[in-house]
Amino acid sequence: MLITAINLVYLIGATSFVIGLKQMSSPDTARKGNVLATFGMVIAILATLFIPITDAPNNYLWIFGAMILGGIIGYISAVKIEMTAMPQMVSVFNGLGGACAAVLASTELTQYANGATILNKGQLLILLITLLIGAIAFTGSMLAYAKLQGLVKDRHVTFPKHNIVNLILLGALLAMSVFVYLNMGDPTLWYIVLVLVLALLYGFSFVAPIGGADMPVVISLLNAFTGLSAAAAGLIYDNKIMLVGGILVGSAGIILTVLMCEAMNRSLLNVLIGGFGDNNHKAEDNGDKQLAKEITYTDLAIQLYYSETVLIVPGYGLAVAQAQKVVKRLDNLLSANGVDVKYAIHPVAGRMPGHMNVLLAEADIPYPKLLDMEDANEALPNTDMVLVIGANDVVNPAAYDDPASPVYGMPVINVWEAKNVVVMKRSMNPGYAGIQNQLFFHHKTKMLFGDAKSTLEQLNDEVKILDT
Ligand code: TAP
Repeated sequence: MLITAINLVYLIGATSFVIGLKQMSSPDTARKGNVLATFGMVIAILATLFIPITDAPNNYLWIFGAMILGGIIGYISAVKIEMTAMPQMVSVFNGLGGACAAVLASTELTQYANGATILNKGQLLILLITLLIGAIAFTGSMLAYAKLQGLVKDRHVTFPKHNIVNLILLGALLAMSVFVYLNMGDPTLWYIVLVLVLALLYGFSFVAPIGGADMPVVISLLNAFTGLSAAAAGLIYDNKIMLVGGILVGSAGIILTVLMCEAMNRSLLNVLIGGFGDNNHKAEDNGDKQLAKEITYTDLAIQLYYSETVLIVPGYGLAVAQAQKVVKRLDNLLSANGVDVKYAIHPVAGRMPGHMNVLLAEADIPYPKLLDMEDANEALPNTDMVLVIGANDVVNPAAYDDPASPVYGMPVINVWEAKNVVVMKRSMNPGYAGIQNQLFFHHKTKMLFGDAKSTLEQLNDEVKILDT
């Protein structure tokens, strides 16, 4: 009876995960989806605590103590975190998930090595897989966090020919795991410890050579790893909700990884062995010898105010400056004068998937105003004015015409096809890919330099003068 009730709760939990995930795919329903998936997780955890344990007492004090402490830390970090630091937070949470799976597998394997439990071949294989993937996801995610947070520089953790070091480490790790598996009649704790140490080392070394702009892809891949290790742990404990949750996280992570690679026109292998965002790989930088034209606030305000159509292209700089609400005020002022204002959203604008959608939703910008890249590119030839705010790589024409550029072949927003382009940023510095952008020197382009929030505030003041 109790087990049937627990399985029923698991079914409700799993259904909540699936519907919640589906709802998260649209900004309109994402919040509801999050709440529903959280509800599913809470009831699944509570139901698990009711599973009768015969061979050991349930230690509720430790369990609830850890849950309360973890819940408080998680809540405070989630409330305090800046949108621009979200990839770091995902990375830490993900790494801890991997650590959890590795700790579970280590505990079971230690019991097995001490002769306290007997495992069949399938169980040993699953435990080894859980240990491997969990440990790799842990150290990989922690290094990803440290790199994104600027605590560790790429050059501090890479050697020359680092990919060869990685291949050797991976070979040693797999060989040692196979050795433990084949010698299952004679389990030795030290061999298992060696597998764990090699997996921890490999996770670190695997992420070490990957460049800055590729980190979100790696984080998503590590996220998929953690999901798979949780699913494997679900198999060990014959816990269906853990299995379902792990599979959902694993498949969502893999789909996201593939989508990000497609949006950058890169293969996963190319991301993993480095290239983009790698500081040694820079396209020809001849921008400094050319002159970019500037525009004044008054001229820009007049052009915007008397345009029929304006397309705003937000990028990472808009997020850093937290300028989303000021953009919305500009939108309100222009729309009140009959200007059709829309936003062009590149799938990898910013530093994580959906970054720009979330940012604009925060400022209550209606979702129908957001055009995806394909629709924006179609609309551009009939657009009077494009305002690029803190975006750079995602509007770089080198994607079409410079085969030497790391962004060559990446789908971009063809802003130069509009009648006029204004780029708002602080300087002529490059974006995340570290390359110059010929758009800034295009005959249709003018620059407005300064922090996105303060320049937009001044621009709004100029537009208001026209409005009176
Ligand atoms: P970036 O190419 O990084 O350009 C952002 C620009 O914003 C910079 O050139 C910077 O120029 C400017 N900026 C910074 N702070 C600013 C501020 N306070 N006010 C005004 N401007 C400011 O950004 P993007 O165009 O959004 O492209 C995203 C990059 O990340 C791409 O390379 C993409 O491939 C990579 N990436 C993204 C993802 C996801 S999922 N989003 C995943 C993997 C990789 P100044 O310093 O001159 O101001």
